[in-house]
Order: sequence, then C-alpha cells, then structure tokens
Amino acid sequence: MNILLTGGLGFIGSHTAVVLAEQGHELVLLDNLCNSEMTVLDKLNTITGKNLAFYKGDVRDTALIKEILKTHQIEAVIHFAGLKSVAESGSDPMKYYDNNVAGSIALFEAMKAVDVKKLIFSSSATVYGVPQYLPYDEVHPTCPINTYGRTKLQVEEILQDLANANPDWSIACLRYFNPVGAHESGLIGEMPKGVPNNLMPYVCQVASGSLSHLNVFGDDYDTKDGTGERDYIHVMDLAEGHAAAIAFVSRNAGIEMINLGTGMPYSVYDLINAFEKSASRAIERVVQGRRSGDLPIYYAKADKARVLLGWQASRGLQLMCDSSWKFQALLKGLC
Ligand code: NAD
Ligand code: WQD
Repeated sequence: MNILLTGGLGFIGSHTAVVLAEQGHELVLLDNLCNSEMTVLDKLNTITGKNLAFYKGDVRDTALIKEILKTHQIEAVIHFAGLKSVAESGSDPMKYYDNNVAGSIALFEAMKAVDVKKLIFSSSATVYGVPQYLPYDEVHPTCPINTYGRTKLQVEEILQDLANANPDWSIACLRYFNPVGAHESGLIGEMPKGVPNNLMPYVCQVASGSLSHLNVFGDDYDTKDGTGERDYIHVMDLAEGHAAAIAFVSRNAGIEMINLGTGMPYSVYDLINAFEKSASRAIERVVQGRRSGDLPIYYAKADKARVLLGWQASRGLQLMCDSSWKFQALLKGLC
C-alpha cells in the first residue's frame, strides 16, 4: 500500500517506517524537522536498504499535502506529526492548538479533497486523565489534565465527527502509553532536543555521562515502591501495532479508539534497575518532590488491540533498556 507518514523522521514514525518498509509498503515521509534530524533519513535508508521518499514540509501546508497525496497515489496516512511536551503545552498553548489541532484539520481537509480515506492517528493515553479505574480500557471517560492531552482528545473528537459524516472513511486512533526503546541496530532511537523531559531518555543521558544524576520525582506515592508506575512499551512493538492497524483500516470502515500498551506497569525504580543491568553501570539518583501534573500509576487494558488488530506487545522491560542503551552508546561513541 502507498502510505504517507507525517512526522516520519520522529521517534515513533521512524521505527514504524522500518516495519512498514520491511512489509513491502511504499512509503512517503513528511517532516518539518522541528523535532528531528535529516540524518534519521540516512539511517532509515541504511536499515531498510531502500531510498525512502521524503518531503521537508509542514502538515499545515494543505497545497503541499494535496500534491504529495496525488503524486504518490497515497492510500493511507499515518499522522504522527505533532508536538508532545506536556510542560510546553502549558506555557504555550496556542502553539499546541495550532500545530496539533489546526495541523490535523489541514491534513484531513487535504485528504478529503483528494479522496484519501484511511487514517491512523497518534493519540495518547493522556486523553484519559485521572483514572476512575485501572487498567484504562477504551471506554474509560476522557478528561485530560493538560493542554497537550486536550489537543489529542480534540483531534479524536474531530475524527469521530468526520467518521459519522463519512461512513466510508476508515480511522484508527491509537492511544499510546509510554513508548521507549530503540531499533535493534541502535541506529535510530529517541533523540530529544535539549534536556529530556521523559524518564528513559533522561536515564540514557545519565548513563552516558551527559547528565550527572536522575531526579526521581516522588517516592511517596501509593505504589509498590513509592515511585510512579507506567506502562512502558517498546517502540518496535508500537511500530508493529501500526502495521497491524494499517491492515485493519484496509479491511474495515468506521472509527476505533485503540490502546497500544503492554498492560504491565513498572515503577521508576524497576526501570532504573533494569537499565543498570543493560549499561553495566550505576545510575545516580536523587529523590525530589513530586512533579506537578504527574499521576501515581496508569496502565492499559490491551485486549481491544489483541482482538481487533491481532497484535500484542512481546518485548519486555530489559529489551527496552538494552536497546535504548545501545542507541545512546552508539550516538555518544561509547561502543
Ligand atoms: P517526535 O517529536 O519524535 O516526532 C514527531 C515528528 O513530527 C518530529 O519529527 C517533528 O519534527 C514532526 N512534526 C511536528 N510538527 C510537525 C508539523 N506541523 N509538520 C510536519 N512535521 C511535524 O514524537 P514521537 O514520540 O515520535 O511522537 C509521534 C506522535 O505520537 C506525536 O503526535 C505524539 O504526540 C504522539 N505520542 C507520543 C508519545 C510519546 O511518549 N513519544 C506518547 C503518546 C502519543
Ligand atoms: C514517567 C515516570 C515520572 C522523568 C509522558 C506524557 C504522556 C506521554 C508519555 C505523549 C513518572 C518519572 C520522569 C524524570 C522521574 N506522551 N520521572 N524523573 O509523564 O508518564 O508521560 O510521556 O503522549 O502524555 O505525559 O512519562 O517518562 O515523563 O515519566 O522520576 O526525570 O518517571 O514522575 O512517574 P509520563 P515520563
């Protein structure tokens, strides 16, 4: 199938590109490089042995998107392009509504104009908000507690209306939990610009010596060891979930919201302990107060993905840490 990946040079888009290319799909990648580097394209070409089509451009450029959809006879779009910092979404909300919501509307308008009706949207477990019960299933009420989460929920709602009005569209909103890890080659992985906000890239930079220690944001939660617990999912499992979703939208019309998680929560200390084994070095840590806006624990009920997509995650926490460390060590010339 001919597939456009918006945000295709980003963390999740690049890993998904590898899996889809290996399955024989024809890919076109679009990215404005606001949070990625051109070098990722070279790495993708090395891994896949292909010369992937790439456009430097923005999803808000409707004319460009229409042109790409027509020129490459695109049959499905995977919409990864978006901004994802919870903290920045609070300090600069209009940037997030413009990029994530207006950007998505512009993309869907371009698709509608040229009759492309299959779409996978990168949503987030953040749409659920404070758990009323756990694990979160897809019918758990949605009430995001930050601007970033609201942009994701708003796009889901737009897509629900679009699907209601156009029953021949096929849409999957994939609600990712906490993606971590890297491709087994170590060539591509998560490359945040500046100081990382998220746990795994921060731990990687402590291990490689770029940062002195990890701040543990709270050890007094009502969790098994007092630290926050999350459903970390290996990015290659997530990538395979997208391939399964492409097959699903090819067969079914309508819209589905689907969790992509493992269903297994791990604490901050679980992750550090596993990472120390991967890197054979100690991770200095300092316990700090709780980070504002953090939830103590959340994780997925992963049954819907298994039933509808025939997909479930298979890679464990140790492999997530091993692959993250391999990527970081190669990046820093440590191996
Ligand atoms: P990422 O920042 O690594 O990748 C996003 C890519 O989109 C980047 O390469 C960026 O340059 C590009 N981009 C952003 N705005 C664009 C625009 N207007 N036009 C064209 N390109 C644009 O992030 P990621 O971790 O790969 O996340 C991909 C998607 O998944 C995002 O929509 C994110 O909100 C969502 N998501 C991520 C996580 C996570 O923890 N990584 C969890 C849930 C959902
Ligand atoms: C995980 C745990 C922290 C950093 C975020 C977004 C969410 C989704 C995934 C996009 C928590 C603790 C972290 C550190 C720490 N993204 N921690 N020290 O907050 O669960 O989810 O990314 O959709 O929307 O909110 O992920 O990796 O930041 O935190 O102790 O330096 O690690 O308190 O318990 P989070 P995270």
